[in-house]
Amino acid sequence: MSTPAPATPPTHQPLLVVAIDGTSASGKSSTARCVARALNAIYVDTGAMYRTLAWYCLQQRLDIHDEKAVATACRKWVTKLECVDQKVRLLVGGYYPEKEIRTAETSAAVAHVAAVPKVRDWMKKRQRDCVQFGPLVMEGRDIGTNVFPETEFKFYLDANLDERNKRRAAEGVQENLAARDQRDSQRASAPLMIALGARVINNSVLTLEATSQLIIDDVRARATWPK
Ligand code: DC
Repeated sequence: MSTPAPATPPTHQPLLVVAIDGTSASGKSSTARCVARALNAIYVDTGAMYRTLAWYCLQQRLDIHDEKAVATACRKWVTKLECVDQKVRLLVGGYYPEKEIRTAETSAAVAHVAAVPKVRDWMKKRQRDCVQFGPLVMEGRDIGTNVFPETEFKFYLDANLDERNKRRAAEGVQENLAARDQRDSQRASAPLMIALGARVINNSVLTLEATSQLIIDDVRARATWPK
């Protein structure tokens, strides 16, 4: 016996995710926030999600070099995604660690945690779940290559190392950006690289506004993004 056709045929919504990847301190966060506002989309900072896990592991006094321990912590921690003021937050045990994840200690730990394959699998699932909140502007290192490889809106930001060091110093943060980039680019699991089809923007001499406008214009020019 044949099954009757559904009354309404399934509609295939286009995927509305702007992926912004790039090196550390290349301006991804400020740019992604600005682009999200202009496009009326939800901002997702995936680096903050990795930082949250690194902070949690430090809190639990785990050895962040112990892959197994980190993977187990990631499997067991109690988390929730929520969207507040057009921005996605990752809560741990009901708590949203905002400032704590920006310390030098967390920054030094995060690339180790982010290199663990089981952690990346966990993060990818949660990051893909964010479409429940609406159209997204998601920034990170592997959004265009691994989390949403099917999106047509892919951008890769970079700036020269001197400029990036200056930007971090201006934020009052001292860290070894070159070492972190190297770790992010050389890990086996979803390393930092330019996604196929991504538009590369070197913003060493561009303002935040100019960088953001390039992305906003590019996205708006495509038929799929709602006008
Ligand atoms: O963007 P950020 O500096 O807050 O990122 C923190 C760390 O997390 C950085 O070392 C790279 C890692 N990361 C990642 O591996 N994949 C992502 N999608 C986002 C961040």
